[in-house]
Formats: sequence, C-alpha cells, structure tokens
Amino acid sequence: MSDSKTILVTGGTGYIGSHCVVELLNQGDQVVIVDNLMNSSVKVLDRIQTITNKTPIFHEIDLCDADALDAVFAQHQFDAVIHFAGLKAVGESSELPMLYYRNNLVSTMNLLDAMQAHEVYQLVFSSSATVYGDNNQVPYDESMPTSATNPYGQTKLMIEQFLMDAFAANSQWNIVALRYFNPVGAHPSGLMGEDPKGIPNNLIPYIAQVAVGRREQLQVFGGDYDTVDGTGVRDYLHVTDLVLGHVRALDYLYKQTSGYQAVNLGTGKGTSVVEMVDAFKAASGKPIPYKIVARRPGDLAEVYANTDKASQMLGWTAACSLEDMCVDTWNWQQKNPQGY
Ligand code: NAD
Ligand code: WQD
Repeated sequence: MSDSKTILVTGGTGYIGSHCVVELLNQGDQVVIVDNLMNSSVKVLDRIQTITNKTPIFHEIDLCDADALDAVFAQHQFDAVIHFAGLKAVGESSELPMLYYRNNLVSTMNLLDAMQAHEVYQLVFSSSATVYGDNNQVPYDESMPTSATNPYGQTKLMIEQFLMDAFAANSQWNIVALRYFNPVGAHPSGLMGEDPKGIPNNLIPYIAQVAVGRREQLQVFGGDYDTVDGTGVRDYLHVTDLVLGHVRALDYLYKQTSGYQAVNLGTGKGTSVVEMVDAFKAASGKPIPYKIVARRPGDLAEVYANTDKASQMLGWTAACSLEDMCVDTWNWQQKNPQGY
C-alpha cells in the first residue's frame, strides 16, 4: 500500500470515478473530486460517505472553465490526477460531434495547463479500447495501430496524442493512459453502480433493466457474426478490478521519474451477448427475454484485450468472474431500480 497522497479525481461522481474514489479513500488517500454533474448525481457523495465513512472534497465545476479549475489547483497540493471526466456515448457523439470535441478536448487541455502551471505531472487518463478502431485482429495489444470510427473515439485518440506531445515537450510529465475494454458491475454493497440516463446504450445496464422489469426485452444486435454463437463478443471487466488497475497505475507512476505509457485494462477473455444473458439470468433468477435484430452500425464481431502489458508493467490482472459482474450489477439494480 502506498503512503497517503492527495489525488484530484475529475469525473469523480461518475460511474467509474465514484468506484475509484472509494478505493482511494479506503487506502488512506485524500481525494478531491471535480465534476459538473452533467452525467452523474450529487447523491453519489452520500453513498461514498456511507461506504468509506470518509468525505471526499467536492468542487462542482466544469473543466471547460479554466479559471475555476485553476482555483482548485491553487487550493490543494495534488500528488496526482486521475482524469475520468468526459462525455462517452458513441451514438450521441456522432449526432453532436462539436459537443464531444469541445467538452472532452477543451476540458483536457485546461487540465493539462493547470497541472503544468502548478507542477503536478503525474496523470492517469481514462482512454478506451475504441482507439484500436476496426482494422486490428484480436486480442488487441498496445503496439497496434490506432484509429477512430466516431467522434467519441476521436477525442480519446486526440487526447492520447495531447499526452504524448505534452511529454515530448516537457519530460517531467509522468502519464499512464489506461485503455478500458467493457467496464461493468457495481460496488458489492449495492450502493453504487452505473445509472445511465434514458435508454441504456450498453448491454449490461440494458439487461439489468429488463431483469428488474423496467424494459420489456433486450434487442440483440446481430446473430450472424463469426463468433461462438453468432452474437458479438466483448471483454467485460468488473469495475472493482478496473479501479484497482488505476491504483496500480498510480503506484507505477510514483516509482517512475517520468514517461508516457498506454496500457490495456481488460480480462483478456471474450463473452458473447447470449453468454452474458445466460449469466445474468443465472445471477438474478429472472427471465431475460430477447430478440435477435439487425447488427448495430459500427459494431465489431469480437473485441478483447491482450493483457500482458498490464500484468508485466503494473502487476495487475482482473480477478472478478462473470458471475461477480452479474451478481453485483443485479444487487445494485434491485436496490436502486430507478438509479440514484
Ligand atoms: P460517467 O459519465 O459516469 O462519468 C463521467 C463524469 O464526468 C460524469 O460524472 C460527468 O458529469 C463528468 N463530466 C463530463 N464532462 C465534464 C466536464 N466538462 N467538467 C466536469 N465534469 C465533467 O462515465 P464513466 O463510465 O464513469 O467513464 C469515465 C471515463 O472512462 C470517461 O472518460 C469514459 O470515456 C471512459 N471510458 C468509459 C467506458 C465505459 O464503458 N464506461 C469505457 C472506456 C472508457
Ligand atoms: C456490447 C455488445 C453489442 C446493447 C461501448 C463503446 C466503447 C466503450 C465501451 C467507451 C455488443 C451488444 C448492446 C444492446 C446488444 N465505451 N448489445 N444489445 O459497443 O462493445 O462498447 O462501450 O469507451 O467505446 O463502443 O459495448 O455494451 O454497447 O455492447 O446486443 O442493447 O452487446 O452489439 O456486441 P461496446 P456495448
């Protein structure tokens, strides 16, 4: 376990950020959250308090507001930053590209400026497996060429480029970009989990809402892929494992003087949509009616990670099973049928 540090967590009231805040508080770090609540609930702060018996400091600000962000850096002495804040819905990003470019890129530029101005150079960034584009063979490893097929993915690619360029210009930067595969699951207490606004875009929140009776049936996008049962295969990763990957990434940074690394966080195992439906049915004891419909544009048949770099560089591998992911999602969904 590392010595106590003060960590700025941007997007810390969001799905993944909130779980990371709990982990950091539990290991004794001081946490300062910055979030504008555009895709999260302020109630998350009470849940964090209930789970950890500690209160993170919270600043409700938009990272696109450079002056407000600078004031946060002036108020606290940070050892490191974890940058989760951003918009993340792939479909919405194609409809509202400028919203995505402005929000995700301006906020990150402001953050990098504030960090440099206040000489905070240790950064963990939430990147995504989406940067592998649609031209690589699974399992994806970090040396493969990157590309993007939608504005959301472009923002992740551009931010990775910002980070590489920042390091090239100033060798004090010490950065890990974590490329997440498919984060799922919830805190085992059932007090925190994923709470999408409107109709869920992602598979597990959709299945959970079918199981709890909020939606009638799942539409399975495509049954004719060249996969184990014709449905899409993904690398689902429990959010508990995911946030431990961030803790390992911070520990790695504390031991380095500087650098830039991109690292996959996944299990290395693929699960099909139908396999996931079966696992959720078993975990919840509820029927999950589904209908196979047309493929969703932009979807790939199979996506999963090569996890060698995470294991060798960070000493991290995922420990939770598919059953853990489904049990914890179901616990959260049952205790919070309408979300926060
Ligand atoms: P989330 O929407 O639950 O959390 C993001 C948080 O950022 C929200 O609380 C939102 O209010 C905040 N935010 C957005 N723009 C902001 C701004 N300009 N200023 C201040 N706060 C702002 O999403 P999440 O699932 O927790 O994802 C966290 C990060 O991980 C994102 O960068 C996302 O792109 C990345 N990621 C997520 C997934 C996934 O499937 N969940 C996969 C790969 C990468
Ligand atoms: C998983 C599988 C669908 C919903 C997305 C982003 C990616 C990353 C993670 C941020 C696929 C199928 C889904 C449904 C279905 N996010 N599906 N019915 O598309 O792998 O990844 O989230 O970086 O960038 O693209 O995740 O959960 O949407 O889909 O059949 O109602 O479930 O076709 O095979 P995806 P997902």
